[in-house]
Amino acid sequence: MTPMTGPPSALIRSLVEGPSLVSGLEWHDEVTSTQLLARDAARDGAPEIHAVLADAQSAGRGRLGRSWYAPAGISLLGSYVLRPTVEAGSLPLLPLLAGLALAEVVDRYCPQVALKWPNDLLLGDRKAAGLLVEGPLPGGAVVLGMGVNVDWRGVRRPTEVAEATSVAEAGGADVDRWRVLAAFLGVFGRRYLDWQEHPLAFLDAYRHRCATIGRRVRGARRAGGDVEGMAESIGEDGTLAVRDDAGILHRIGAGEVVHIRPA
Ligand code: BTN
Repeated sequence: MTPMTGPPSALIRSLVEGPSLVSGLEWHDEVTSTQLLARDAARDGAPEIHAVLADAQSAGRGRLGRSWYAPAGISLLGSYVLRPTVEAGSLPLLPLLAGLALAEVVDRYCPQVALKWPNDLLLGDRKAAGLLVEGPLPGGAVVLGMGVNVDWRGVRRPTEVAEATSVAEAGGADVDRWRVLAAFLGVFGRRYLDWQEHPLAFLDAYRHRCATIGRRVRGARRAGGDVEGMAESIGEDGTLAVRDDAGILHRIGAGEVVHIRPA
């Protein structure tokens, strides 16, 4: 008999803390990518927050065209259809907001949680979760994808994720992925509602958790090549301000930054 791996939807709903904005919850044993199914659901008019969850993905997608590896059964893989009403200029803040909400949840299991700009979740210096925001799609929906390495203890992993960690490894205790999901839906729901009223209000909390600020980094600018320098701050548009060694301030948008380890 195939084991029942899906989330008990009634339990998830009952565990959500605060305003549950969840309108629908789909579970799949295996999909190509939950992002693709969530896009389809958005195109078909799914209201927010419609959650598409899967145990495994055959073509999981990461940021910047990368793939996303996650072993089945011990990861939390989901994409969430949102229909934000903020002005277009505030939309680039959504990945930061979602990263902050996830950090606030994972903090309950591992105190060393931090965010690498824009929205990688780090435990110590190792990545344990990533977020991918796609959209707006025609009709205004946005798809928030989130992959959390929940409990990879004792799991052999391929070289591309050899440096990654998981919440249970870093926290040293069992972690129930449905509780992580329910907590995220609650914390994110509250922050998302606030954000639509006050789009900048969360930024100080984000900056506080952001391990990139104060680090030496290398990043790619949209126009022009790489820039290397000290990450100074996060702007109200979500960009990262990096001062190079000549004292010039650069703003990095959606790209990737690398934290440079001190020599
Ligand atoms: C990153 O590159 O850090 C973002 C990774 C996002 C992965 C999640 S897993 C669930 C959802 N489905 C996907 O194909 N990608 C996102």
